[in-house]
Amino acid sequence: MMTWLSELWSGGPAVVEPATLRDAPKLAQLHGASFHRGWGEAEFESMLAQRNTLVHRLRVGRKTIGFAVSRMAADEAEILSIAVEASHRGRGLSRNLLLTHLGHLAGRGVRTVFLEVEENNQPARRLYERAGFAVAGRRERYYRQPDGEQLNALLMRRDLS
Ligand SMILES: CC(C)(COP(=O)(O)OP(=O)(O)OC[C@H]1O[C@@H](n2cnc3c(N)ncnc32)[C@H](O)[C@@H]1OP(=O)(O)O)[C@@H](O)C(=O)NCCC(=O)NCCS
Repeated sequence: MMTWLSELWSGGPAVVEPATLRDAPKLAQLHGASFHRGWGEAEFESMLAQRNTLVHRLRVGRKTIGFAVSRMAADEAEILSIAVEASHRGRGLSRNLLLTHLGHLAGRGVRTVFLEVEENNQPARRLYERAGFAVAGRRERYYRQPDGEQLNALLMRRDLS
């Protein structure tokens, strides 16, 4: 019942699938709306064309409302970015996005996944902790905000098996 209601509200079931070159403009728009230093369309195009980069989109009906991007090197990967459009947040959609993305990384032979998250980014930290990531390090004043404020980063890690 809950699933049916939330699907009706959000416009249909949420689907996680590989992104293609044609998604670059939309992904750049979503990224720019979620992060201070947004990635442009050309950056997404080049990532989508690289074999060592994995990009998934989160789609509801015909609308792409989120994405996850990782870079792979040997049996390790780093999640470079994950975001859900603000109007669709708080409904647990990112969990499916992240877990599907991790499943594909495992399928490509990745055994360890790293990521960096701003220490005060509670939704992201909750998402990663629930998905099995643990804090592996801390970087003081790693991120600089547009207003000059410097924020700490946590390095998180999860082994895939
Ligand atoms: C991080 C992000 C992808 C999470 O997406 P989402 O679909 O809203 O995720 P969820 O609905 O599963 O919420 C994640 C968790 O954060 C919690 N949460 C949501 N908003 C919160 C808030 N303002 N303060 C504290 N916790 C919050 C939720 O309760 C949930 O925890 P739970 O599973 O224990 O209930 C989304 O917030 C986003 O795109 N943020 C901007 C980009 C970003 O910061 N990306 C991560 C960079 S490292």
